[in-house]
Amino acid sequence: MGLLDKHGAIERNATLLLVGGLVVVSIGGIVEIAPLFYLENTIEKVEGMRPYSPLELAGRNIYIREGCYNCHSQMIRPFRDEVERYGHYSLAAESMYDHPFQWGSKRTGPDLARVGDRYSNEWHVQHLKDPQSVVPESIMPSYGFLAKAELGYKNIGDHLIANQRVGVPYTDEMVANAYADMTAQADPEADWEGVETRYPKAVLGDFDGDPTKLTEMDALVAYMQMLGTLVDLSAYNAEENYR
Ligand code: HEC
Repeated sequence: MGLLDKHGAIERNATLLLVGGLVVVSIGGIVEIAPLFYLENTIEKVEGMRPYSPLELAGRNIYIREGCYNCHSQMIRPFRDEVERYGHYSLAAESMYDHPFQWGSKRTGPDLARVGDRYSNEWHVQHLKDPQSVVPESIMPSYGFLAKAELGYKNIGDHLIANQRVGVPYTDEMVANAYADMTAQADPEADWEGVETRYPKAVLGDFDGDPTKLTEMDALVAYMQMLGTLVDLSAYNAEENYR
């Protein structure tokens, strides 16, 4: 029996064809999946990633609560047009402490993965209160009420613990100081030493223009200002990587 005849025999026997098909598909599956079990880490290592500071984490919760992700992605794809508009493409490591991640795919507004440090705090506050006053053609809704809402999150320590349980390396010291760190980060009068050592590169100071009150606006702007700023990307050459 030649090779062609054998093939013909398989094609004419439905059971044999099914079994043969399964074998072939399984080999493909194993080749793709098995290595993942032997790799220690599928995320490339980068310098600078740290868990969110308590104020940033609170801001992130507000970002999710307000549904900002319905219009904004946080994932810069490795294409020239994206990199030229938004900056270095997103690295997997940059969202490794995100639970849940905010990559998204809906872009009614621009991607926010690297919006940190692009505008001043005042710009963000003005934009969130009245988007059309800074970008006349904007269709973004107003979130002015956040400046009036005092920041709750008395239990922010529990939020850190919840993240700890799913693998974010918050230390017990970070948990114990969570509430104090949250309030200190936005208080120009506070001693910032603890926040600075526990959360390097955290943006410090009053965010919402009202130093007497800690508001949801403070937290959201603190979160906006750190997005995409932690990793030192000078080690990466974008030109080389997406060509
Ligand atoms: C209905 C869709 C929509 C929602 C919801 C929305 N935005 Fe926007 N956003 C836009 C659009 C459109 C723009 C571009 C025009 C502008 O700058 O206002 C924008 C721009 C921005 C910018 C400026 C980005 C840049 O690079 O210039 C920031 C920051 C921002 N939004 C933050 C937020 C936050 C935070 C929330 C949630 C509290 C939010 N947005 C909710 C549509 C939306």
